[in-house]
Amino acid sequence: MENNTTTIRAIDAIEEAQKIAFAPFVFQATIALRKLGIFDLIFSKRKSGGINIFEIAENLNISTYGIGVLLEIAESSNIVSKTNDNYYKLTKVGYFLNYNETVNVNINFTQEVCYKGLYHLTESIVNGKPEGLKELGNWNTIYEGLSKLPEEIKKSWFEFDHHYSDDVFDDALKIVFRNNPKQIFDIGGNTGKFALSASKYSDSVKVKIVDLPGQLNVALANTEKAGFKDRVTGHEIDWLKPNPSVPNGADLVWMSQFLDCFSEEEILTILKTCVKGLNDDGELLIMETFTDRQKFDNAKFILEATSLYFTVLANGNSKMYPAEVFLKLIDQAGLVLKEDIAVGEYHTILVCKKK
Ligand SMILES: C[S@@+](CC[C@H](N)C(=O)[O-])C[C@H]1O[C@@H](n2cnc3c(N)ncnc32)[C@H](O)[C@@H]1O
Repeated sequence: MENNTTTIRAIDAIEEAQKIAFAPFVFQATIALRKLGIFDLIFSKRKSGGINIFEIAENLNISTYGIGVLLEIAESSNIVSKTNDNYYKLTKVGYFLNYNETVNVNINFTQEVCYKGLYHLTESIVNGKPEGLKELGNWNTIYEGLSKLPEEIKKSWFEFDHHYSDDVFDDALKIVFRNNPKQIFDIGGNTGKFALSASKYSDSVKVKIVDLPGQLNVALANTEKAGFKDRVTGHEIDWLKPNPSVPNGADLVWMSQFLDCFSEEEILTILKTCVKGLNDDGELLIMETFTDRQKFDNAKFILEATSLYFTVLANGNSKMYPAEVFLKLIDQAGLVLKEDIAVGEYHTILVCKKK
């Protein structure tokens, strides 16, 4: 059967092409409509037949010119609709652009963290370096600078990161604690959210967070504040420096949304290093959102966009991977896959043991 790309009419194809040509215009108009409170105001008038440009202008103290140009492109982009007597309402697309939590997190991440940097994507592909990162700061990878990012950018980065892992931690903890590990290493523990959840889940488990110094300071301050100073400790590491090492004695090594921050070669080094720190009967658990494990095209699309964030801003050489790449690397690192478990709507946990 022919697919859409061959059956599409030329007139529709050129319309799609034009939408892409001006996609940043529609995106920035959406940002303005959100920030200026125009979406909120239109939505609040939905039960009284909508609102016209003059009423919006008076309510928000913005020129009718400004509101006009934003709403014209929003109407053509199916974000708002207009009645015959020029009253605006949000369409379903407009509603989700303003009120859906996942869309909200993605829009803020795109605007605050990625937008300016994305301009440098072509150079990043050619040079294999995150050439857009200079728009945020003077670092080799974004992870060096995370704790120093300006507040609004930092907030958007962390909300994006947490949004895609927080919800599955409850399900994940049941798998993590099946064999009652006494010592967990949380590799890439970030702000300490998993360490906190694990410490609450078990009243005796010890967690060692392994991360860059900037994140480790934040994570340990958070876990100390929550009363877990005795059970949550840290180990500073930069996996990109030569000969990284972790302490011995882990019953369980936990890596959540972490290995996607590295190239395949780097992942192999990390896995091999962690195998050395793992007790002989211990488990290494990898939780990821794999591109080939998504039920919805939309989820795959979000992951593909996230890959470009890695290319242009994060490090220049990593991506969201299909599971098959990890299965190969697990084997090469001296591990054997014991279980392959779907958690939540998007995540997979690979349970590995030493060979
Ligand atoms: C995407 S976050 C994962 C956060 C958390 N595990 C979760 O599930 O939400 C990636 C983590 O890897 C850490 N990381 C990135 N590059 C690193 C490096 N070169 N050395 C050590 N840690 C690194 C970051 O500091 C960050 O905490």
